[in-house]
Amino acid sequence: MNDNQLGRRRREFMIQAGALAGASLLPVSARAQAAKLRLGLMLPYTGTYAQLGVAIENGLKLALEQAGGKLGGRAVEFFKVDDESEPSKATDNANRLITRDRVDVLIGSVHSGVAMGMLKVAKESGTLMLIPNAGAGAATGALCTPNVFRTSFTNWQPVHPLGKVMAERGHKKAIFITWKYAAGEESLASFSEGFAAAGGAVVKELFVPFPTVEFQALLTEIASVKPDAVACFFAGGGAVKFVKDYAAAGLKEKIPLYGSGFLTEGVLPAQGDAAEGLLTTLHYADSLENPRNKAFRSAYAKAYKTEPDVYAVQGFDTGLLLTQALDKTKGDIGNQKAVISAMEGAVIDSPRGQWKMSRAHNPIQDIYLRRVEQGDNKVIAVAWKALEDPARGCRL
Ligand code: PHB
Repeated sequence: MNDNQLGRRRREFMIQAGALAGASLLPVSARAQAAKLRLGLMLPYTGTYAQLGVAIENGLKLALEQAGGKLGGRAVEFFKVDDESEPSKATDNANRLITRDRVDVLIGSVHSGVAMGMLKVAKESGTLMLIPNAGAGAATGALCTPNVFRTSFTNWQPVHPLGKVMAERGHKKAIFITWKYAAGEESLASFSEGFAAAGGAVVKELFVPFPTVEFQALLTEIASVKPDAVACFFAGGGAVKFVKDYAAAGLKEKIPLYGSGFLTEGVLPAQGDAAEGLLTTLHYADSLENPRNKAFRSAYAKAYKTEPDVYAVQGFDTGLLLTQALDKTKGDIGNQKAVISAMEGAVIDSPRGQWKMSRAHNPIQDIYLRRVEQGDNKVIAVAWKALEDPARGCRL
């Protein structure tokens, strides 16, 4: 679809939506001149990913505040929905934000399944959508689309270097354990690919349904298989429980645990000693030595009385991307072609280090090897410089 077609599709959708909602049929051009920019936030505010949603919103608001509270000269209004990390509600929730609240930009979500539901609505309506976390590969792969951008990562990216790291540390046979849904399955696929290329093999794949945290039977299985190491994907509340249960089962000293870095993001105080020493790979680390990170960490801690994490950084970068694109287009969100072109050329001066947008609309970024040291995710090394997702199937 070209930009003209996209614009027409969006106008048709808005008219239908307006009629459905019984709203007045204001021409899009009139709405585009409206004083405030309407941002629709679809994030989890309850459940295992609740604190991830809050961190993203905090980071986004911090970036907007630092930009003077305006985007391209226009004040901002937020419309929020708790998506509950529930994919079955995602299209209804996204449709409501577009038709009832008439948002200019759809921002979300954390959970890959929810983001895929939103993507469908964004594609159909032509609404500009920014993904501040969910790593679902298809969003910037087979289903990539001009009006959808991601400021976070693909599920392929953070764990792609992990297999090599583990093989170099002498591990040849690993078990991978995760939640049974897109993020876990895509992390496993990426890890297996990287581990195999480095001479390792995943000898067993273990799953629990999302978002359950009943790990006991699987920990017993790990103990009996005795692999050289375990790798995993868990995040939020589930990551707290898994890391604690792994240590409590007496496995931590016997079979080293690795993970994508989400395992130890935003949850270190709750994990306590159980997390000390864990090695993970991710596109951010608390201790990154760049001026942007230092300023961000202190401003965030001051504003929210808590330490930022990768989710806060992704929210912040979403705000930076919006600021850059709307400053360039003087707040004219209705000129979607210009906004998209500004976002495609974006270079983001992020706390994670500078990154730029790939052709498929996903960050090209460094992946760090980190170790938990005294409650902090410390950088050990750059595990992979400027890693770009292969964006399989994307033709942008
Ligand atoms: C996802 O569902 O894509 C997801 C959720 C939480 C994370 C990372 C990825 O920390």
